[in-house]
Amino acid sequence: MTERTLAILKPDCVQKGLQGKVIDHLLNAGFKIAAMKVVKLTRETAGEFYAVHKERPFYNDLLDFMTECEVVPMVLEKENAIPDLRETIGATDPAEAKEGTVRKLYADSKQNNIIHASDSPENAVIEVAFFFSTRELIENKTL
Ligand code: CMP
Repeated sequence: MTERTLAILKPDCVQKGLQGKVIDHLLNAGFKIAAMKVVKLTRETAGEFYAVHKERPFYNDLLDFMTECEVVPMVLEKENAIPDLRETIGATDPAEAKEGTVRKLYADSKQNNIIHASDSPENAVIEVAFFFSTRELIENKTL
């Protein structure tokens, strides 16, 4: 089944100028970009997006990190996009990520791990709607 999922190229990806390399990796893995934008998250917005981690010890540092500079949210589409994107990017901790995954190739740490990906169909719907309006998600983008 064709699915849509949310990815975010994080501040470390942008600061290292790796957006093109990571996008190329995703395209080569068979993902289609259905929508994409560049935004600078406020602490409030980043906190809302990561609210599920509010009680975690790394939460404040995560918000500092996610607001360092602009990020690149994108909606990616393919068969089984949600599990396949998680597989393509690799484990949260790059030290545990499989060879050839985005995080193994480019990430420095559990926090500075280059890219976010939705972890379930329910969260994909919520996270896509967090960054993109219905109008930005129409099938053939006619305006
Ligand atoms: P992400 O997939 O965006 O989901 C939550 C983020 O929190 C995660 O990627 C990392 O950037 C960060 N994170 C998760 N676990 C840890 C950890 N143990 N220490 C520091 N940061 C973490």
